[in-house]
Amino acid sequence: MKKSILVTGGAGFIGSNLLRLMVTKYPDYTFVNLDKLTYAGNLENLRGLDQSPNYTFVKGDICNSSLLSALFEEHQFDSVMHLAAESHVDRSISNPMSFIETNIVGTVTLLNAARHAWKDDFEGKIFYHISTDEVYGSLGETGFFTEETSYDPRSPYSASKASSDHLVRAYYHTYGMPVKLSNCSNNYGPYQFPEKLIPLMINNIKNKKELPVYGDGKYTRDWLWVEDHAEAIDVVFHKGKIGETYNIGGDNEWKNIDLVELLCDSMDEILGRPKGESRGLIRFVKDRPGHDRRYAIDATKIKEDLGWVPKVQMEEGMQRTAQWYLEQKEWLERIINGSYQDYYKEQYEV
Ligand code: NAD
Ligand code: DAU
Repeated sequence: MKKSILVTGGAGFIGSNLLRLMVTKYPDYTFVNLDKLTYAGNLENLRGLDQSPNYTFVKGDICNSSLLSALFEEHQFDSVMHLAAESHVDRSISNPMSFIETNIVGTVTLLNAARHAWKDDFEGKIFYHISTDEVYGSLGETGFFTEETSYDPRSPYSASKASSDHLVRAYYHTYGMPVKLSNCSNNYGPYQFPEKLIPLMINNIKNKKELPVYGDGKYTRDWLWVEDHAEAIDVVFHKGKIGETYNIGGDNEWKNIDLVELLCDSMDEILGRPKGESRGLIRFVKDRPGHDRRYAIDATKIKEDLGWVPKVQMEEGMQRTAQWYLEQKEWLERIINGSYQDYYKEQYEV
């Protein structure tokens, strides 16, 4: 069956990994990637896909309702996969407003555009909202987030994502909008912007720079290989029930300090440095305000109902990630010197 899908935020980390999977796997579907190309959007993440006949890129903002109406009119979308967001917690602490604008106002603008374009005739339509486990707040030493866990967001980022989740569910209950949601744990792998823990550490280890670990380093995250997340999104999109939420996680908890030490050891091995050398770069620094202590996902529902399980184990994923960042020297350097933002001009405005 053919589908016409609007993907938002496809030039970011998860969006680009998702498009790499979907555009190839579903040649009969057409994909329009709408992305504002903020600092986090990088068209170089999608190199190679630009040539695919079933893929189109549009530079634009999900808060722009007339642009959205025009795109729905032109492409007759039957589905939306909504990933566009401001995604970095530390930035939400220093500049909350852009999070409110994109994550909340942007999501409701997109919901309105879909609703009006579909004229409340929702047969065969899907609005899939991709969200985060951070909406559930912070766990103590034990327990897991299930789909029934009450929302308790504690950073401007997670509060804005929680708000967007509520709006998506409100459109389901109020207007019958055919929504699906998923809430995922921390992703890692290729194309992640080097402000996030793992690529930041890899880059600093490579350059023998200090490794800033927040607080006591015992904050815990549940890590998932990004391509496993992309496959989970594919499964929820095709097999998930309308109106339902699915938690996605790696069943793979790591304290930050243990993770950074693992990375140091893998990198020492890959770079041929003496064992233990990079651990000497670790520095405990000032904590993130309101830092959530522990996240851990109970992914029973997606496993039992939809048959999805993560495939890549941490040691393998970490090796592949470190190797990828070392091989993609140019990709990383172009981000660090800012020239990745010229790619749009070079590609589309000459
Ligand atoms: P990212 O920051 O790497 O990418 C976000 C993308 O959205 C960028 O390409 C950016 O240009 C685009 N964008 C931002 N504002 C926009 C706007 N107003 N209009 C159009 N495009 C805009 O983020 P990511 O890590 O790929 O996360 C994608 C989604 O998945 C987000 O909704 C995030 O909340 C969610 N999520 C992320 C993780 C994770 O570990 N990274 C885990 C769970 C859920
Ligand atoms: O849980 C899903 C979330 O994971 C996503 O919704 C977010 O978009 C994504 O950014 C991520 O949020 P985190 O805040 O968990 O990711 P980050 O990589 O920023 O930090 C991971 C942990 O490492 C966290 O406990 C803070 C810590 N940290 C981070 C940085 C950047 C450090 O100790 N030092 C650092 O320099």
